[in-house]
Amino acid sequence: MRLFVGIEFSEEVVDELLKVQNQIKSEAKRGRFVVQSNLHLTLQFLGEVSEERLGPIEQALRKTAQRSREFSLELKNVGSFGSGQSFRVIWVGIDGDKQELVHLQKDLSISLDKLGFPRENRPYKPHITLGRNVEFNGEASFEEYSESLMKAPFLVNEISLIESTVENGKRVYRSLSSFRLSAKH
Ligand code: 2AM
Repeated sequence: MRLFVGIEFSEEVVDELLKVQNQIKSEAKRGRFVVQSNLHLTLQFLGEVSEERLGPIEQALRKTAQRSREFSLELKNVGSFGSGQSFRVIWVGIDGDKQELVHLQKDLSISLDKLGFPRENRPYKPHITLGRNVEFNGEASFEEYSESLMKAPFLVNEISLIESTVENGKRVYRSLSSFRLSAKH
């Protein structure tokens, strides 16, 4: 099974992301856009994992969540990885209590490292992918997209273990289990 750990969003946050995604879609010539139910923030990608490792992974997530506090984030800026003809990834960035997010991600990656999932050498760049391989007719106006984002804070109070499958040729992300961030402030 192909797994990753991520943060899922409330309907309000998803609506906000869809609004910006629609704006981008309407101006794009082509691209593969993430469907509504797949919008999330990745904490760590695990890749292909055999089923018997599920128990220890869930235990690591549970422990990490127990020693982590809730925090609040905001959506901020629309940007890209890659440029030129085709933008490899178009994303929405994160603001708010980013320190707590980075702390959580670090704690998680240390716990998972002990289970044999090596930590990435590159720094964690929190982003919400809206689309991949996106091409525009003219210039893409990322500033305009960023300005239309509502920056209302939202609460992060759990992390999820998510399975990624392909069903009828479509990528489907399904939450297998979620763990409450339950340390006290
Ligand atoms: P992305 O959206 O920036 O591509 C499921 O694939 C999630 O894990 C995606 O959000 C993806 O981030 C992230 N991810 C991180 N590293 C990955 C990798 N090496 N391969 C595929 N997905 C990865």
